[in-house]
Parts: sequence; structure tokens; C-alpha cells
Amino acid sequence: MSSSRLVPRLADMGTTIFAEMSALAVRTGSINLGQGFPDVDGPASIAQAAAEAIRTGKGNQYPPGPGIPELLEAIASHQRAQYELHLDPYSQILVTAGATEAIAAAMLALVDTGDEVVALEPFYDSYRATITMARGRCVPVRLSPPDFELDEERLRGAVTDRTKVILLNSPHNPTGAVLSRGELEAVARVAIEHDLVVVTDEVYEHLAFDEPHVPISTLPGMAERTLTISSAGKTFSFTGWKVGWATGPVDLVDAVRTAKQFLTFVSAGPFQYAVAHGLNNEMRWVTGLRASLAARRDLLAKGLAQLGMEVFYPGGTYFITTDVRPLGESDAMALCRGLPERCGVVAVPCSVFYETPGPAERAMVRWTFSKQEHVLTEALDRLNSLSASWRP
Ligand SMILES: Cc1ncc(COP(=O)(O)O)c(C=O)c1O
Repeated sequence: MSSSRLVPRLADMGTTIFAEMSALAVRTGSINLGQGFPDVDGPASIAQAAAEAIRTGKGNQYPPGPGIPELLEAIASHQRAQYELHLDPYSQILVTAGATEAIAAAMLALVDTGDEVVALEPFYDSYRATITMARGRCVPVRLSPPDFELDEERLRGAVTDRTKVILLNSPHNPTGAVLSRGELEAVARVAIEHDLVVVTDEVYEHLAFDEPHVPISTLPGMAERTLTISSAGKTFSFTGWKVGWATGPVDLVDAVRTAKQFLTFVSAGPFQYAVAHGLNNEMRWVTGLRASLAARRDLLAKGLAQLGMEVFYPGGTYFITTDVRPLGESDAMALCRGLPERCGVVAVPCSVFYETPGPAERAMVRWTFSKQEHVLTEALDRLNSLSASWRP
């Protein structure tokens, strides 16, 4: 059934490693440090707002396509309060089914056959797939350890006369790197010089631990060419709700709205009321989440370093990447496939985030610290039980 005529473009993107690893975690009863989701739900008041919306019939029937007014206004207030960005809620904001739909709709709306999209490699897995769906070409710009800094010359080298979009992600999954203001300024210079659109995935905007988050749309000359994507999933620890949004200039948001209309038409109604409540009332909770996640980052980073791995300390997100070669391991895929049986821990090999991983990328593993402290400690204890086989 999988003739290349029928599934020509997406055939090699198959089942994601996350599905494979999460199934392995369930089958072996392992601690899942592979897929990034919290093991404690977000604020009770937000969950109550969702339940209340369903009970009182708010959003149980098709809500407005661009999003309910309460949420559009809450997102506009959030952008103003956090970043002094002034957006018209009704023409510059679109609510989507998670950031995932916003990314797909943006690529379908902005990329034509043969257009090139320059994206930071390693990349979040939906980028290459959705660029391919749009019949565009993903052109990687490699971020290299230990700091995963974005090099302006590398970025310039990736831009051609076919380039249409620079696709950014900061804080960055999988590396946890946070683009500095200097790196963002370099992106802005290149985008302005070549008249490119920047699509920026900022779903971890509230999970930058060491410096305040800087949206690239706040840089001079960028608001008019930047589509910013975010989501309630990470901010409020409700990753299963899939409420996201895209914001930016009217023409870009309009184009994305057209694509969204034919993907999901509207996003789930009651959750929109709940997320509006969260943005209006629970930002203090988010500050606490950030502090608690930073402490858990430190706990996991220290534990993994003590096991002998090289740890690339992240500035944000849910994730730490490590190089496992100091343990005598060179094949992270084989290591991650074996870990659940060997010690009951699941992690993800970073090679899946690269187009053409070399030996260094094939020896990197991503671990999430979005779990409770005692779960992380237990995972480290389990990994420690292997240390005899690791240390020569
Ligand atoms: C960088 C990045 N973008 C987008 C998403 C998806 O967000 P959502 O669950 O809101 O679709 C994730 C989720 O892991 C992510 O890490």
C-alpha cells in the first residue's frame, strides 16, 4: 500500500520517535524522559474554567473561526503587558489547534512549490514535515554544541534567491538554547536585507530561565515581517488542550487564517475560555512554574553530568541534551532503544532532529526535566545502576 506514487513526499517521515518511545515507556513501565510534557497539571482555576464553559454551554458549538473574542483580547493584553506589542485582537491574532496547527498553516500559507525555508537545525520535528507538505524545501542552519549559537555567516550562507521564510525557534527545542539579543539582531539584519518573512515559534516564551524572553518581533523593522507562534500548552502545563495562536501583521495573519480554515476550521471552544482565564489571571503561577522548572533543570543537569555525560546546559524549555560518548556510547539511537529494558528510563536520540546527522549528532540524547523532582531523582538512580557498564 505504501507505493511511492501514493505517498511520495511524507513516506520517510513515518511514525515519530516520540510515539515509538512513549509506547516503549508504557510497555516497560519506564520513566518517560523522552516526550516533553509535565506530570502535574496546570492551575485548578483554569481547569475549572474549562469545565464551567462546557457545563454552561460556552463554546460547545462551533466558536468563531479566528478564536473567541475573550481569548483574542486576552492574547492582545498578554502581548502588550509582557512585550509592549500592540496588536488589534480581531485582525492580528488567530487562535489555532495548538502551535502545531499554526506552524502547518503558516507553511501552507506562505510557502509555494520550490520556495526555501531556512530553519535552525536541530529542528522540532513538524517543521520539515510541514515545509514538505507545502512542497517547499527546508534548508538547515546548524546550531553546534556546546552553546548552539546561531552564526550569522552560516545563516547568510543558507539564504538564496529562493528563500522565502526564516523559521526560528527560541527557546529552542531540542537544545534548550535561547537566542541572545545579538543573535536575534543578526536574524533581523538578514531578514530585512533579503526581504524575508520570519516565522518564529515561541511556545517556550515563559520557560526562559536566565534572561527575559525577547520576541524577535520587538526588534526594529521586524513587526511588519514576523509571524509569531505560541501556545498555552507549555505556559500553563495543559499540553493536551492544544490551544495555540499566531500573531503578526494583518496580511500574514490573514494568509494563515485562510489555511487554518481548511485544516480545522475552528479550535476547541471551551478550552479557549479557559486559556483566556489563564492569561488574564494566572501569570503569577507561570512565574512559579518557571522557577520550579529551572530548579529541575539544575537537578537533572547535575545528575547526568555525574553519570559522566557531557551536558549542554540549557537556558530554557523542558529539555537538556547530552553527548554520551564520554560513557563509551556512540550510537544514541541504540542506547535509547535499549535503556527501557536495561533500566526503565526513556529518552530520545537527537539524530531524529537532524537532516543528516554526523557522528557527534548520532551520539546526542535529549532528556526532559518537565517531571516532578522525585521522578527525576528516581530516573537518575535507575541510570546510575548502569554506571558500572558505562565507566571503563
Ligand atoms: C518547539 C515546539 N513547537 C511547537 C510545539 C507544539 O505545540 P502545541 O502542543 O501547542 O501544538 C512543541 C511541542 O512540543 C514544541 O516543542
